[in-house]
Amino acid sequence: MKPLNRVIVNKDASIQPIWIMRQAGRYLPEFRDIRKKNPNFINLCLNEDLASEISLQPLKRFDLDAAIIFSDILMLPFGLGQKVEFEKNFGPKLGKLNLDEIEKITEIDFVEKIHPVYNAIKKVSSDLNLKNKNTIGFVGAPWTLLVYMINQQSPKKKLREDFFKDKFLIKRILQIIEKFLKVHIKNQIDSGADVIQIFDSWAGLLEEKNLPNYIYAPTLNLVDYVKSLNIPVICFPREIKNYKEFCDIVKPDAVSIDYNVDPKKILKDIKIPIQGGLDPKILLTNKETLTKEASKYLDIFKDHPYIFNLGHGVLPETDPNMFDYLVKTVKNY
Ligand code: CP3
Repeated sequence: MKPLNRVIVNKDASIQPIWIMRQAGRYLPEFRDIRKKNPNFINLCLNEDLASEISLQPLKRFDLDAAIIFSDILMLPFGLGQKVEFEKNFGPKLGKLNLDEIEKITEIDFVEKIHPVYNAIKKVSSDLNLKNKNTIGFVGAPWTLLVYMINQQSPKKKLREDFFKDKFLIKRILQIIEKFLKVHIKNQIDSGADVIQIFDSWAGLLEEKNLPNYIYAPTLNLVDYVKSLNIPVICFPREIKNYKEFCDIVKPDAVSIDYNVDPKKILKDIKIPIQGGLDPKILLTNKETLTKEASKYLDIFKDHPYIFNLGHGVLPETDPNMFDYLVKTVKNY
């Protein structure tokens, strides 16, 4: 059985596997080399040879237990025909959201537009570097995708005043997002993804009264869908105030925690397997601090099914040697 399945499905606490969010990315010089020659980020995600090569880069360097496919949560709005661009030092920029145009998109149109992602997953999951390791497919949660599609860029700290103004648009877009997320998940699994992670990066922006409609109901629906395909599903409701309530309602197979979560408290509150937590900024300090902080998570979760990861993505300024040191620290624990 593969390492993440042992932890998530068998609830095996005798191993603490490790993979890192954004492990395929800018802190690696070999990624930056490829990126320099490929200024269009979406096209890079749609280049199945390069996307698979980038996904494998961290596995060739470090003793990680899983590959995450090099792609982006914004491939969904792109597949629905919304313009998506990535601007240097700014982040994603999306075009105007046109409901009439999006209503016309069929499943065939969508898959045709983004099918290289699935070919990249086939390549990665069948690569020898992945022998006895997991291939993680992923999607953005409906709420986080709604935020990008309406806001047309990252929302930073809060939502626009008029975000919820057009109730009909929001309701319809959410339904469409859910439908195509299922298509996207199914195709990733059929191509070799053996774990699915749902990234809800902007879960922390919602007021409590809005959680049922925008997070709990749509995410539960997706979690149930992934479970029906017999594949483990990890949810990352970043900065949500009440992880326990989220887990009680949405019931993912595992939950990934952000770095503001108190690991001792969550251990008491939550029975399902846990992933992550370490602040990515710790990788910018020194080996002594890194050992101390990583050991804290390993110690606290030593008798609980636990997958080592960070509390958000690895930062671009991270020294790959510190990354290597972290992986070794976890492996030699
Ligand atoms: O290694 C991996 O984790 C796999 C690849 C991956 C990327 N994006 C590649 C990427 C994954 C899992 C994502 C998820 C993603 N994308 C999220 C959820 C996780 C999170 O960070 O909260 C979000 C919100 C996005 C949207 C997105 N993509 C933003 C806001 C940005 C720009 C800011 C940033 O962090 O760079 C991206 C660009 C992006 N996605 C890059 C990479 C490697 C950097 C692109 C570059 O080289 O300029």
